[in-house]
Amino acid sequence: MEQYVIKGGNRLVGEVEIGGAKNAALGILAAAIMADETVLIDNLPDVNDINVLLDAISGIGASVHRLDRHMVTINGKNVSAYNIDYDYIKKIRASYYLLGALLGKYKRAEVALPGGCNIGSRPIDQHLKGFRALGADVEIEHGKIIAEADRLVGKHIYFDVVSVGATINVMMAAVMAEGMTILENVAKEPHVVDVANFLNSMGANIRGAGTDVIKIRGVQRLHTAEYAVIPDQIEAGTFMFAAAATKGDVTVKNVIPKHLEATIAKLEEIGCKVEEYDDAVRVISDGNLSSTHVKTLPYPGFPTDMQPQIGVTLALCKGTSVVTESIFENRFKYLDELARMGANVKIEGNSATIQGVERFSGARVSALDLRAGAALCIAGLAAEGITIVDDIVYIQRGYEHFEEKLRSIGGIIEKVNSEKDIRKFTLKVS
Ligand code: EPZ
Repeated sequence: MEQYVIKGGNRLVGEVEIGGAKNAALGILAAAIMADETVLIDNLPDVNDINVLLDAISGIGASVHRLDRHMVTINGKNVSAYNIDYDYIKKIRASYYLLGALLGKYKRAEVALPGGCNIGSRPIDQHLKGFRALGADVEIEHGKIIAEADRLVGKHIYFDVVSVGATINVMMAAVMAEGMTILENVAKEPHVVDVANFLNSMGANIRGAGTDVIKIRGVQRLHTAEYAVIPDQIEAGTFMFAAAATKGDVTVKNVIPKHLEATIAKLEEIGCKVEEYDDAVRVISDGNLSSTHVKTLPYPGFPTDMQPQIGVTLALCKGTSVVTESIFENRFKYLDELARMGANVKIEGNSATIQGVERFSGARVSALDLRAGAALCIAGLAAEGITIVDDIVYIQRGYEHFEEKLRSIGGIIEKVNSEKDIRKFTLKVS
């Protein structure tokens, strides 16, 4: 298994280009099969999750042509299978977006039930509630979701839980249903809006994405389109917190500052200087950072996908901070790893009390999920000595050229896959 080996202590200084939003791209790629014509999608992040979903899409018969690492054309005309194998769902939960796309277009779909993951049980009851409300018969048999409908008819649906996945999945199922669908208590994340904008560019009729109510008037068919995925605000925020934690001065480029408002507010609250430009944000930290409190919430609140990154940074801020994770039930495991680097943390239920320390000391830690892994790399870059982060396959699912981008702003980090390589790195940097 590959690892990252990091020598901490360098300030991160420089500029980083941010890639396309993984969580928007996953919904957009699934939605692309709903047209019977070629659609072109640009600004895709070249990360494992995207590559797995593209395999699943070509696996059901759609034609997929990778023009380059960030651009693909998809034509759903020849889709001939409506079932998505378990091994795709096992690799990426978001394969379940094909449920909404296939049901919406072909009125049938069969997708393996996604399991839980390291951050929580991840139920999909709201997805199924939406499909049933539109008229689909949805059964769970032998670990599979089987959804079929003679007709899909628009309905007024109120989600019990604000869910990004359910909002996107049911929105897709509704775009070719008969009549008007009204979705309430929906997720408003930028990637939900991006999927809606993409569907509209293919001829769908969706209004209100990004607000509390989305209205979808069904259309007969969808057509060709060319679309570029929005920048990834979570990748951007990860580098912004890396600047804060390493007393750095980093500018993230090709971002939409509005999507980063909650992140910018927290960085300023702890004492960073933040400069906003049209499509860039600069974060400067002198290291004299102070504690604050943060609670993760659906957008526009502070994103749960940024919780590990702010947690690591707060562990180096003077004073006592409290982090409350209101979205997932098990997203503090990285703090146990951080404690092994010297952090002073106490977890009680969905809250963590973090007492700032002067510095971390490098240690061997594990990336337990995508964002926790990235956060532990930030900890290693801020620590004294050498940190080894195991299981970086999680990080590679959602961060393109992560170690190269960190090296380009002064991070001393390498990807290795043997103890020998670790020894070589340690000798080289000592
Ligand atoms: C998406 O997951 C993201 N993944 C997650 O990012 C992100 O953390 C999450 O949204 C919240 O922003 C993708 O977009 C591929 P939810 P999703 O449905 O859609 C409960 C990353 O690091 N819920 O918004 O699965 C659920 O248990 C990943 O990139 C139900 O109860 O999240 C959770 O408590 C990690 N029933 C809450 O809603 C349902 O049917 C929010 O989950 C669905 C969800």
